[in-house]
Amino acid sequence: MFFPLERLINLHEGYRQTFKVAGRNLLLMVVDNQPLLLEDSCPHQGAPLRTATLMGTVLRCQRHGMEFQLPSGRASQPSCPSLKMFGLVYDGASIGVDV
Ligand code: FES
Repeated sequence: MFFPLERLINLHEGYRQTFKVAGRNLLLMVVDNQPLLLEDSCPHQGAPLRTATLMGTVLRCQRHGMEFQLPSGRASQPSCPSLKMFGLVYDGASIGVDV
């Protein structure tokens, strides 16, 4: 089932917004002109990523400084799991997720 998150017209570089979908906290971001959807929870110890620092395409969690490459979500430190990324679905003038 398609769950709309945002109208395409509202997406712009630097966009960042959280959504609660099917019990999950999701973070929609636009990085390098690409919309990305990820779990709003750091795979290291669960800090919210909505306040993470973005340097180019590297997302840095504020709690302990783990860094993740976007759009892959791969952690820079091999001991840390990758970000949980979700596929985005385009539907007319909206972007969303299949749940
Ligand atoms: S919780 Fe994100 S780096 Fe530790």
